[in-house]
Amino acid sequence: MRILTGVQPSGKLHLGNYFSVMSKIIRYQNEHELFCFIANLHSLTTFKSREALQDYTFDAACDFYALGIDPEKSTFWVQSDVPLVTELTWYLSICINVNQLLLAHSYKDKIAKGINPTGGLFFYPILMAADILLFDSQRVPVGKDQKQHLEFARDIANKFNHDFGSTFLIPEPEIDEDTAIIPGTDGAKMSKSYGNTINFFDKESSIRKSVMSIVSDSAGIEEAKDPDKSVIFSIYKLFLNETDMKTLRTRFETPGLRYGDVKKELFSTIMDYFAPYRKKRDEFAANRDYVEELLLKGSYKANAIAIPVIERVRSKLGIKR
Ligand code: TRP
Repeated sequence: MRILTGVQPSGKLHLGNYFSVMSKIIRYQNEHELFCFIANLHSLTTFKSREALQDYTFDAACDFYALGIDPEKSTFWVQSDVPLVTELTWYLSICINVNQLLLAHSYKDKIAKGINPTGGLFFYPILMAADILLFDSQRVPVGKDQKQHLEFARDIANKFNHDFGSTFLIPEPEIDEDTAIIPGTDGAKMSKSYGNTINFFDKESSIRKSVMSIVSDSAGIEEAKDPDKSVIFSIYKLFLNETDMKTLRTRFETPGLRYGDVKKELFSTIMDYFAPYRKKRDEFAANRDYVEELLLKGSYKANAIAIPVIERVRSKLGIKR
């Protein structure tokens, strides 16, 4: 099965990204045909600076390679390196009504926040549909917030097929309804915008600082503690198998546990877990030319799939004579 997903380059990865998205995507590459790209064109709709976009894109590539994206097994590229996707966006734009686009949550939310409603924000869902349809994607795993965008992509594909004859595969969404929310250091959902993240590719001292800042209640050492109410426990258990989790649970419930000690252990666990990935990431980051070469090869692979699809579309539309 061909699985496709895109990830916007948005800075440092944290445990929430890792456990909810990245680890899953990377696991797919062993069982499926994985297509994965860095959505830098989508990021233009919230443009900050040229340097930021360039750096974030490179960083995202290093992150993915370090965490195990294998460019031989998968097709991994930077969205803008397959410019056919912008051509397809234009063709698809005639298969969706403006009133439907106005209903997009992503668009409405941005406007509600007072963000300038640019054409790019408005077209965002069409570009995303093009990402998906250009590669004959069968399944698209995304977070809940992207559910509506996938419905748009399916509507657009159906409309095109209806108006111009069968052209696109209809992609199946894979919405993760029940991924456990990964709590941040303050107990709220871990998110860059809340400043409560643990960024596992950061300097050791920053990771230590974030872990030591995890909130805890004021239970004294000699009191039994409720693991299910503890943020430390819910982060720690991401790294533990059943047996180790039970052991930790018992330690919480037995008087004598110091939160500070558990945090130190959690810090070591995180460092041990990510040590091989951190090492690889440093290697990729120090070898920019190599990373660029891998990305270029990825874009060739992606283009090779996209070309026959865009030709199919052009011929349906009378663009190709
Ligand atoms: N919009 C998605 C997000 O912000 C990223 C994305 C762009 C994407 N194109 C895609 C995801 C195609 C899946 C398929 O998370």
